[in-house]
Amino acid sequence: MMKFCLLLAVFCSPVLSEEWKASVVKNLNALVTSCIVIPCTFNQPKDNLPSSKLRGIWHIGKDKAQIVYHDDKSRIIDNFRSRTQMLGHLGQNNCTLEITDVKDHDNGPFCFRIELVESDKPTTDKYSFVEDCVDLKMLPEPTPPLLISTKTATEGNVYIITCSVTHTCPSHVPTLSWNRKGDVIEIHREIHSGIWETQSILMFTAEVKDDHTDVSCTAQFYGRKTSSEKITVFVKRTESYNHIIIPCAVGISITVIFTIFCVLMVKKYKNRIVELQNQEGSMWNRLSRISHRRRT
Ligand SMILES: *[C@@H]1O[C@H](CO)[C@@H](O)[C@H](O)[C@H]1NC(C)=O
Repeated sequence: MMKFCLLLAVFCSPVLSEEWKASVVKNLNALVTSCIVIPCTFNQPKDNLPSSKLRGIWHIGKDKAQIVYHDDKSRIIDNFRSRTQMLGHLGQNNCTLEITDVKDHDNGPFCFRIELVESDKPTTDKYSFVEDCVDLKMLPEPTPPLLISTKTATEGNVYIITCSVTHTCPSHVPTLSWNRKGDVIEIHREIHSGIWETQSILMFTAEVKDDHTDVSCTAQFYGRKTSSEKITVFVKRTESYNHIIIPCAVGISITVIFTIFCVLMVKKYKNRIVELQNQEGSMWNRLSRISHRRRT
């Protein structure tokens, strides 16, 4: 796979490198007060140019004067000065931009432009540029976290709840916190270009006192905005079976003992009855014989 990619790169690079090309994510959500990182890469015809020979600029829409990022800070418009930073290294063809303290009018479109810096000539004469723009959708408030848990909690067993939020500020990831103690694992990953997920997995041993309690997860985003979501835990008791099993066992035992007793009693009485019947029979026989004799 690596070799194939390298081969492909070798084959394609003369073609690709002839043109200036940028690739910027087209749409992203941005949380007001937080930060936004706009992924951006570009190709340029001259191989291995150091960052110092390249100048990356970000501006608003078609207006090249509305500069939101420039390495010469004095050229950045007031509203964006000290809020923007080039996170990517231009020498690595990376033009990733970060905007912090996002305002609700920062919707863009923000367009990337690259200039070739010729140290001995005025840069404005000789530049090549590409423009590719991103539109931001402003979110005034963060969306609540998504909570997922394992079926029902069973007393004494490990119970797992997963809390996840998506965001577009990977340079200052949100923090997730729980209102219940337990072991916590945190995971950060990129799910689409520019869209990230922070996940917190809470694990604890379910106890009787957890039954019908709310476990909540709170996400605090860079810029201090928070959102939270809760889940009610129902704990299945393991000892509750004893309340059923013990009376059942007692009931069954009593029934068995009573049945045996009855059978024994019946047996005993059967013998007596037969004995009595026999006695009765012999008495009757004798009596009838006596009466017979008298009549004759
Ligand atoms: C570009 O730079 C950013 C910030 O340093 C980094 O997170 C990202 O992975 C880089 N992108 C590429 C394609 O190397």
